[in-house]
Amino acid sequence: MPIGNTIPVGIVGTGIYLPEKVLTNADIEKIVDTTDEWIRNRTGIQERRIISDDMATSDIAVRAAKMALQNAGVSAGEVDLIMVATISPDMFFPATACLVQKDIGAWNAAAFDLSAGCTGFVYGLAVGSQFIKTGMYKTVLLVGAESLSRSINWEDRNTCVLFGDAAGAVVLRQVEDGFGILSVELGADGSGHDLLKQAVQRTQAPGTEGNCRSAENYLTMAGREVFKFAVKIVGETALKAIESAGLQKNDIDCFIPHQANIRIIDAAAKRLDLPKDKVFVNVQKYGNTSAASIPVALHEAFLEGKIKKGEKVVLVGFGAGLTWGASVIKWAL
Ligand code: UT7
Repeated sequence: MPIGNTIPVGIVGTGIYLPEKVLTNADIEKIVDTTDEWIRNRTGIQERRIISDDMATSDIAVRAAKMALQNAGVSAGEVDLIMVATISPDMFFPATACLVQKDIGAWNAAAFDLSAGCTGFVYGLAVGSQFIKTGMYKTVLLVGAESLSRSINWEDRNTCVLFGDAAGAVVLRQVEDGFGILSVELGADGSGHDLLKQAVQRTQAPGTEGNCRSAENYLTMAGREVFKFAVKIVGETALKAIESAGLQKNDIDCFIPHQANIRIIDAAAKRLDLPKDKVFVNVQKYGNTSAASIPVALHEAFLEGKIKKGEKVVLVGFGAGLTWGASVIKWAL
């Protein structure tokens, strides 16, 4: 739906953190019965990043958050709210956002986590922008951060080839009239809750092994079903958001979908009649980083000059829940 004709809210700074350790398809060939060819052909992924043993999700979230604040020219003390979208939090509780608050010294900020699977960042944009639109807050720090390598069964070739670790952050604030978030569409279908899940959360404090490794401790996915859902929902939701923003397909300058599988991205681009140069893809480098995927892609697209001030960007997420969401932004930077 249109985001409302009140205070215009947009992204005023972005930041990312990518763990140094690179795990290539060739490395995974040594772990499970798979091939580089299968992974590239079926997913587009060539390599992914893996968080170091002495770090947790909050640590990578903090690094991305600091970069976003610096790029926005905003001090930690000015932040009113920190939201961390994640399905791999450090602990059951407290929220990872509270650890981020402590580490960046944002002592004036409220803090909570948001769980909406790989759609977490788009849900976060909707939630965070509302606080600013109502006038309750001026500055919101939204982070998508995941260390899913710790949720994966490294003996399951159906899942272990797909995911990677990363963090991306944005700062939300009032922007010029006519700029910023133009529309958001959110959705959920809990009847698909079983298709992508981790029934029991491992604790992920640095230096601990977490609780015992039963089957329930791992992420599981019915890949083919999620694939079918994704191919349908990405194009559909993007179109709704474009329409809600009062725009048409050919008004879109940059399409940034959740980076899960190149075949899903290609199908959506086809549905939206978008040429390749308007579609941002980095799944080959990082795999599926869940809630971190869209903010990481957004940061890279901006850095590479693929988004310029006044251009219209479409973000689309989909994932566990099942959940989905899309947003159209008129870029304000
Ligand atoms: O971010 C949340 C959203 N998640 C997603 O978007 C993921 C959506 N799903 C997918 O991207 C795809 O379904 C996968 C990439 C997970 C799988 O691709 P697929 O084309 O749907 O393959 P499949 O699951 O239908 O499996 C085809 C074959 C099977 O063998 P049989 O039964 O045909 O003999 C699998 O056992 O490929 C086999 N297979 C593998 N072979 C080599 C599954 N994983 C692997 C593997 N290496 N890693």
